[in-house]
Amino acid sequence: MVFGLGWVEGAKRGAAVEAIRLVRDGFIVGLGSGSTVAYAIAELGRRVRSEGLHVLGVPTSFQALELAVRHGIPLTTLHEHPELDLAIDGADQVDSRLNLIKGLGAALTREKVVAASAKLFVVVVDERKLVETLGGGVPVPVEVLPFAVPLVMRRLGELGLKAAVRTAGKGKVGPVITDNGNVILDIKVDAVEEPAKLDKQLKQIPGVIETGLFVDMADIVYVGGREGVRKIERGRKVEKGWTDAD
Ligand code: A5P
Repeated sequence: MVFGLGWVEGAKRGAAVEAIRLVRDGFIVGLGSGSTVAYAIAELGRRVRSEGLHVLGVPTSFQALELAVRHGIPLTTLHEHPELDLAIDGADQVDSRLNLIKGLGAALTREKVVAASAKLFVVVVDERKLVETLGGGVPVPVEVLPFAVPLVMRRLGELGLKAAVRTAGKGKVGPVITDNGNVILDIKVDAVEEPAKLDKQLKQIPGVIETGLFVDMADIVYVGGREGVRKIERGRKVEKGWTDAD
């Protein structure tokens, strides 16, 4: 537990530091986005400096790229390294089957590509993110080609779903524009009973680039709480080609 940050910041940092313990010399590491993973990037930078660890990072967003540069983590691309040893990212909700909602930071598409490129996908959250069923207070974000917004809105309506274009609020009028030049639609769903089905339905709409539903992707979730960090594991690391010295 880190003192002086309040329990939430301490919990986020604790989960992030645990995740970075998985990183070994020579690893190619996917770097997620958000405030929790920011602690992981800082910790990885600290290990690079203090242990002389050789790693290369693949950032999922402009934010992750800037943080990695600031913390001295050398970067690479999926073109140079199509398979990553590990990807570490935050999440907005984690359900009891380790399915996720991501994308409140609007970086969901690159996050999903990077996570899918990794032998091991590790999620770092504080315990407020754990839910039995996805949805409710957190919308399901989808990244949409701006040209396609009217069609996507109409198709969502036909599916009985209410959505709104995410607006930037302070600092910019109009919509949030993603790092890929697209917009985000936030879909209100009370309970996502079948995340795989909803993900498939959304992806079938022309103009939907990606959804924030990460179904059956997370291998390990580190959950920071008031009492310390808990590890929840799916246990199929070998299946995905992951080997570690643990
Ligand atoms: C970014 O698009 C999201 O998927 C983030 O991973 C998510 O919002 C988690 O961010 P925090 O760690 O700041 O809650």
